[in-house]
Amino acid sequence: MPSPREASPDLQKAITDTAAAVTKTMEHLLPESDMAESRLFDAMRYSAMGGGKRLRPFLVIQSAKLFNVDPTRAKRVAAALEFVHCYSLIHDDLPAMDNADTRRGKPSAHRKYDEATAILAGDALQALAFEILADNQTHEDPRVRCQLIATLAKAAGGHGMCGGQMLDLIGETEEFDIGTISRLQRLKTGMLMAFACEAGAILGKTDEPHRKALRNYAHDLGLAFQVTDDILDVEADPSMTGKPANQDEAAGKATFVSTLGKDQARMRAEMLVAQACRHLHPFADRADTLKKFAHYVLERRA
Ligand code: IPE
Ligand code: IPE
Ligand code: MG
Ligand code: MG
Ligand code: MG
Repeated sequence: MPSPREASPDLQKAITDTAAAVTKTMEHLLPESDMAESRLFDAMRYSAMGGGKRLRPFLVIQSAKLFNVDPTRAKRVAAALEFVHCYSLIHDDLPAMDNADTRRGKPSAHRKYDEATAILAGDALQALAFEILADNQTHEDPRVRCQLIATLAKAAGGHGMCGGQMLDLIGETEEFDIGTISRLQRLKTGMLMAFACEAGAILGKTDEPHRKALRNYAHDLGLAFQVTDDILDVEADPSMTGKPANQDEAAGKATFVSTLGKDQARMRAEMLVAQACRHLHPFADRADTLKKFAHYVLERRA
């Protein structure tokens, strides 16, 4: 029997199946063009297709399942969120940010195309995400669509992922205490994860206590996820992660690993995962997959 921390074959299969299903929805939602500007559409497709674990979509699908949401709607929201995530990765890799040459085992967008095309592809993927959420195929109730749009906008913007990315860059030259590093990670990674989990609750029109439980789960999970990302930066094989190794130390990033060391950072991630699972108490055993997923996040090698 696998230890609780190993991804069981069932969980692995659920992750792989969800990734395939959401990738199909993304493929269908990506615009095509044979006009003079088709290079932009090629770059969007290049960055969104062919790689990526699709873990945020998995969280959307699982949280939606808790409230018996129509899977077609959940897949559209999962695709929209993954487009925002892909945009964030394109911009994260730019020379002005992390200056990374590879992503998901391929040349990063600005290396494959050029910086301007990469910037525009990121911008257009983000806009596409909101276009999808605003469409009545995502939900027939305009209030639900508005809530999805407002919640994703907050998660991706200045008080969310972009704010976290700003702190991440400032942290290259300024000393941060552990509280500021936690805030940085919460914004840069936790906010999109929180949207992933809250989206199911919004689609299911559930009450605030259940929404809050999922949000709290996601924030602890997001921190643990980013700690693992920072550990993998130090110790993983680039052929597994598909991105360059030792990027953080080279750039002088402020991370849990740089401040606490690998072992303490790992202990903190384990504590966060235990805490994340406790937040799922109101869902009892219906949230077992989300609990298993939290342990998987610690053990992942890519
Ligand atoms: C990488 O995210 C960026 C972080 C927020 C740490 P993922 O590890 O989910 O990247 P993909 O989508 O699988 O490529
Ligand atoms: C990026 O964090 C988080 C984003 C918001 C894109 P990292 O810079 O650590 O992600 P990787 O390691 O390049 O995937
Ligand atoms: Mg970065
Ligand atoms: Mg990076
Ligand atoms: Mg990283």
